[in-house]
Amino acid sequence: MQEVRFGIIGVGIQGSKYLGFFVNHELKNGRLVAICDRDPKVLSKFQKQYGGLFRYYSDSDSLLADPEIDAVFVTTPHYDHVPISIAALKSGKHLICDKPIGVYTKNVGELLEAAEGSDRVFSMMHNQRTNPVFRKIRDMVHSGELGALKRYVWICTDWYRSQAYYNLGGWRATWAGEGSGMLINQCPHNMDLLYWIFGMPERLWAKSICGKYHQIEVEDDVSVFMEYEKGFTGTLLASTGESPGTNRLEVSCDMGRLVYEGGDSFIFDENVIAEPAFSRSEAENHGTGFDRPACNRRVIRPEGEETAHKGIIQNVINAILNGEKLIAPGPEGINALSLINAVNLSSWTDSTIEFPIDADLYWKLLQEKIEASPIKSV
Ligand SMILES: NC(=O)c1ccc[n+]([C@@H]2O[C@H](COP(=O)([O-])OP(=O)(O)OC[C@H]3O[C@@H](n4cnc5c(N)ncnc54)[C@H](O)[C@@H]3O)[C@@H](O)[C@H]2O)c1
Repeated sequence: MQEVRFGIIGVGIQGSKYLGFFVNHELKNGRLVAICDRDPKVLSKFQKQYGGLFRYYSDSDSLLADPEIDAVFVTTPHYDHVPISIAALKSGKHLICDKPIGVYTKNVGELLEAAEGSDRVFSMMHNQRTNPVFRKIRDMVHSGELGALKRYVWICTDWYRSQAYYNLGGWRATWAGEGSGMLINQCPHNMDLLYWIFGMPERLWAKSICGKYHQIEVEDDVSVFMEYEKGFTGTLLASTGESPGTNRLEVSCDMGRLVYEGGDSFIFDENVIAEPAFSRSEAENHGTGFDRPACNRRVIRPEGEETAHKGIIQNVINAILNGEKLIAPGPEGINALSLINAVNLSSWTDSTIEFPIDADLYWKLLQEKIEASPIKSV
């Protein structure tokens, strides 16, 4: 195979962005040959614009039956990610599933089974994994350079959306349409990075507040406290209602403190001696108890650029053609979703949630939210 022939299922805001990469020749060895959208207005808009450049389908099954398509994007609203992704793998297509992998973990198991029984390339669109800053922080955490972690705090309040965004209506910000709010729409990126950098916590406790800043039925503000097997803790604070917000990750560890606050660099205040060793030696030497380890400030600006969505697509093309290692292997998508579901479950039941979460209970409580809502379908 010389090039990968793609189809996009769901050509709304995000699907159109991927379409643009192909028509502007921004990807190597990839060609878009078909698009699918169930909205006839969307299809006819593209048909008028691109004519015979693509084949046009109004349902995903017909696109998946097209033998001249090698790989598909699933870029529909989230509820359809799991069923269409399963159908894609079963029909022998390589797959890029947009975030989140699904809405609730109960049915993601079926997708993981389909992936296990398939030799197709399956990637999640977890595009923030291409950010050199997060890659470097992950390397530093995993290599042991930071020593034992004590705590991280991620304040992620730069997902600001005004009421106008929510007034666009449709599937967004409804239990029936997307099954959650900020957690499932904006935060999958953060949740994936948390899993990717720090691993999965053992348990979490959370408060998610619905309609705190906007007239919506789902959450737009969350506070999460996580405990990890290795003894460190994590806190995530996020909202779509603060401006100016911040995107600040602070990691406290034996070797000092690492602070990222947006941009292409971060600070590492590196202790010259690990804090526990310093504390022990102060005790042995009858120190005053008020001294602290000396530290040196390093400003770390990792090389490389954030290739984002294009980087993930190119990686998938290279994986199909040459076996390149995936940046965001598809089955890992369940971890971000487990975190998202756990945050809601903790808040809904006012209890600490252990991993793995009770997927049946989550699904049942979500159905109750949908039934209690005036919006039953979108
Ligand atoms: N990775 C990212 O950075 C990123 C950014 C934005 C959106 N997304 C994800 O992309 C998905 C779509 O978001 P959007 O903003 O493009 O939404 P959108 O509403 O603009 O587009 C969705 C499109 O899918 C079509 N559609 C719905 N169900 C379909 C079906 N079963 N078969 C075929 N077409 C169908 C709709 O008609 C619509 O045109 C969401 O899951 C969202 O989380 C990812």
